[in-house]
Amino acid sequence: MRVFIRIFVLALLFFPVIAGIPAQQGKDTGAPPPWAYGFTSPTGAATSDPPPPPLFSPVRDDGTIRHLPGSNFSFTRTQIQNSFGPADWYPADHPQMPEIVAHGRQPDVRACSLCHYPNGKGRPENAGIAGLPYSYFVHTMNDFKNGARKSSDERKPNTYFMIGFAKAMSDEEIAAAARYFSSMKWTPWIKVIETSTVPKTYIGGGMFLRREGNETEPIGQRIIETPVNTEATEILRDSRSGFIAYVPMGSLKKGEDLVEKGGTGKTTRCGVCHGEDLKGLGPVPGIAGRSPSYLMRQLVDIQQGSRNGEWTSLMKPVVSKLTSDDLLAVAAYLASREP
Ligand code: HEC
Ligand code: HEC
Repeated sequence: MRVFIRIFVLALLFFPVIAGIPAQQGKDTGAPPPWAYGFTSPTGAATSDPPPPPLFSPVRDDGTIRHLPGSNFSFTRTQIQNSFGPADWYPADHPQMPEIVAHGRQPDVRACSLCHYPNGKGRPENAGIAGLPYSYFVHTMNDFKNGARKSSDERKPNTYFMIGFAKAMSDEEIAAAARYFSSMKWTPWIKVIETSTVPKTYIGGGMFLRREGNETEPIGQRIIETPVNTEATEILRDSRSGFIAYVPMGSLKKGEDLVEKGGTGKTTRCGVCHGEDLKGLGPVPGIAGRSPSYLMRQLVDIQQGSRNGEWTSLMKPVVSKLTSDDLLAVAAYLASREP
């Protein structure tokens, strides 16, 4: 009974705060920003994007043997995209992969190296997973498994693939993958450029790809993260070819103020938990120099409650008062920090 009364009093005390949140949040954070999820139109829009090509459909392979500078290996397109043993162009760039990372386990678990690359650098539509702390890695895999990590944009297909793999994996397989990826350092992978105009792009496989020609368009309130070399990324899955992130003018300064100073009471300084250099602290993951599209998705997913694990409760107050534009600025600034 005493406990009940205490909860009741607490609820009364906080009621004004709680009641104030939906009105404020509804205005700013209604729909997840489509650009962070690999779409050009919002969820539920009348003119939705055409469905992305199925991720694992048989690729058009004319049998051409492909090469990459600096690699002694050569592969066909089918081999490059083999879900249970994709191309590893540069085996010397990483330790020996455990079986689950190199080949996955048929039929339910595709090779981690397919989407995240053998070196764990990943792509904007998935995640960079090299250099994450071991305990965070295991914890978040279990969040996927237990339904505590979903996507705020229900159209995003590969989040649901990721959930499926986590569900099918044993504790030993999760531990092997976590040991492997946490043993590597996170190194620079994304170049951030502040600009008011961006190359015209289209969405291919959940990511912004540059159109032929030199046409540009206003960036608006978006981050456009695109391969430095479209062919190297899209066709060859070159794990040494990184990304450019175009971010709106002024977003880096605004993001710096929020991240480093808490934006005068709007949020908590990130360094308190993520380490002063934002490269991670104990079990808390590093957030410097990582994909801004990925970071933005996580901040939005945490704010909207679609990412809702046990550890996520530490992040909720951090994002509760931030607008969509604030989150964009934070993601832009974090991506620009040296990892
Ligand atoms: C089909 C592509 C795909 C494959 C294969 C894949 N993942 Fe993922 N993974 C994703 C996507 C997409 C996300 C990000 C989900 C989001 O942003 O909503 C992700 C996110 C993650 C994260 C979270 C990163 C973070 O910073 O919290 C971890 C950890 C991870 N994957 C581990 C693995 C492991 C281990 C394997 C191999 C068993 C694997 N993934 C295979 C697509 C994939
Ligand atoms: C009180 C501690 C704390 C503070 C302050 C904090 N974080 Fe976090 N953050 C965490 C924890 C713990 C996690 C892991 C959450 C989970 O597992 O769901 C996390 C996760 C994240 C993630 C997801 C990382 C990934 O790989 O998926 C992002 C992005 C992030 N934080 C950004 C920020 C930013 C930006 C700030 C400052 C504005 C901040 N955090 C401040 C504790 C904190």
